[in-house]
Amino acid sequence: MPTRFFDLTGQTALVTGGAQGIGAGIATRLARAGAAVAVADRNLEGALAQAAALKAEDLDAFAVEIDVADAGSVQSAVDTVLACRGRMQVLVCNAGIAGKALPTWDQSDRDWKSVIDVNLSGVFYCCRATLPTMLEHDYGRIVNIASLAGKEGNPNMVAYSASKAGVIAISKSMAKETALKNICVNAISPTVIRTPILDQITEDQVNYMTSKIPRARTGTIEEVAAVAHFLASPDCSFVTGQCYDVSGGRATY
Ligand SMILES: NC(=O)c1ccc[n+]([C@@H]2O[C@H](COP(=O)([O-])OP(=O)(O)OC[C@H]3O[C@@H](n4cnc5c(N)ncnc54)[C@H](O)[C@@H]3O)[C@@H](O)[C@H]2O)c1
Repeated sequence: MPTRFFDLTGQTALVTGGAQGIGAGIATRLARAGAAVAVADRNLEGALAQAAALKAEDLDAFAVEIDVADAGSVQSAVDTVLACRGRMQVLVCNAGIAGKALPTWDQSDRDWKSVIDVNLSGVFYCCRATLPTMLEHDYGRIVNIASLAGKEGNPNMVAYSASKAGVIAISKSMAKETALKNICVNAISPTVIRTPILDQITEDQVNYMTSKIPRARTGTIEEVAAVAHFLASPDCSFVTGQCYDVSGGRATY
């Protein structure tokens, strides 16, 4: 029998924002690698549909309702997964929103806070709720989805850019805290990937971001999921606290 690399057989993974887009792609990839996948989303209907699509492929998946911006909701989703499956070896913090494309001086307190609550506090809440079980079992893989915006700063996306820079920093901090416990925490920074999130910003904004990509195209969901799969696997054993760019050559550092 050929060796299966990045095998996740017997493991449980929770993917936030798993109902659509990049999260659905990562959920699919991890399930095909053998993981039982909790498709966690505030859109329960979408999460149920995505879990059903995976089950139709004979894969192990189930839906969980979660609002990552609400610490109580996060804790109860994690508790539900642990009650059902006993362990959670993999956490993928993918849920995110773009916010309004406006210059800083036109952004309201509410615009700012809603993006920070989901994109930054959401990652903190999910990691905080999951780390105790990983620490208890001396094993865990956390993959946090940041963005190139967090490294370079996109104009008219101040809260989004700040939140994603924070996601990279959170990942580096937690990686150092957990390095002796066989827990790896890494971030991924994609550039423009064609998903429904792009509907939240203007076509001009999308064109601006795409024009900066040397490969001269948008990335695909599968290209992000492939990197997430490695980072979520036992093969990723000496890589922690890093940010992987999936950017078609755009990133310069
Ligand atoms: N698409 C891109 O070009 C791109 C580029 C860089 C980074 N990203 C990041 O990738 C991640 C996924 O993006 P996408 O393009 O697939 O977006 P998407 O809008 O297609 O999907 C996001 C998912 O997150 C869920 N979600 C939103 N808020 C939530 C909350 N509070 N609690 C739980 N679930 C919530 C939504 O219901 C949805 O299913 C995001 O963090 C995004 O910032 C995307």
